[in-house]
Amino acid sequence: MPRIGTIRPTRPADIEVRDLGKRYGRAGSGIFAMDDVDLTVPAGEFVCVVGASGCGKSTLLRILAGFEPATKGTVTVAGEAVSKPDPERGVVFQDYGLFPWLSVSENIAYGPRQARLPRDVVRERTTRFLEAVGLTRFAAKFPHELSGGMQQRVAIARVLANDPSVMLMDEPFGALDALTRSSLQAELSKIHRETGTTVVFVTHSIEEAVFLADRVVVMAGGASHGVPGHIREIVPIGLGADRDVTSPEFNELKRHISALVHQGVEVAA
Ligand SMILES: Nc1ncnc2c1ncn2[C@@H]1O[C@H](COP(=O)(O)OP(=O)(O)O)[C@@H](O)[C@H]1O
Ligand SMILES: [Mg+2]
Repeated sequence: MPRIGTIRPTRPADIEVRDLGKRYGRAGSGIFAMDDVDLTVPAGEFVCVVGASGCGKSTLLRILAGFEPATKGTVTVAGEAVSKPDPERGVVFQDYGLFPWLSVSENIAYGPRQARLPRDVVRERTTRFLEAVGLTRFAAKFPHELSGGMQQRVAIARVLANDPSVMLMDEPFGALDALTRSSLQAELSKIHRETGTTVVFVTHSIEEAVFLADRVVVMAGGASHGVPGHIREIVPIGLGADRDVTSPEFNELKRHISALVHQGVEVAA
């Protein structure tokens, strides 16, 4: 049954990661890029993943997305093993990945059309998500006519139009200027509250993580440290909506997470 008139998925999914490990290259060669990763994300939670470059954040996300097989361990989403990409798990990367030959509204309509949803449902979803990301006036434009921030809004709307039960985002705001970035953070936070979708969001920015997340997963290690990337600590944020980035609580969390991220990271001479 297509869902019309609400942007709440009927089934936000939980994610279970068990003893996950990844080794690139031939079996038996090289060390694990990432190992011993265990993580449970309840349905509807917003989790941010932070950690120094090379600790396996993108590897984890690509395995969750089904783009990359794990070497060991399991990932299930809503109880089902992940083995390949699926529109139920929407993915947003730093480079927007829009179809340049389609207009903004056609980009957003693409997924629902592929799913062969009835025309009125496609139209309704396109209108709704154009509005959710503030791009109604730009529906007929093409990606190259938009700023980076607007293109990333389209990428988010395009994923949301599939009514995903999970959204996986890898440094999606990394290429944007600070002002655009903070306005997209606020929008994403609002969209998350409205949709209830489970989100796993990788970022370099500790401030971004504390602003967005219910919990922050701090990863460490990686090839340059001689140990596989792994989870160092999971920090519950415990702040409500409308977070004040200047509050003492916010800054104490930033300080704590920053210390965890930088612990054992030597500055190259
Ligand atoms: N396709 C690949 N082939 C070989 N090694 C890779 C590949 N992708 C990532 N790696 C290695 O795996 C480790 C983790 O990388 P990545 O997941 O991209 O980390 P992060 O996103 O945290 O910077 C790094 O040592 C990286 O060089
Ligand atoms: Mg990465």
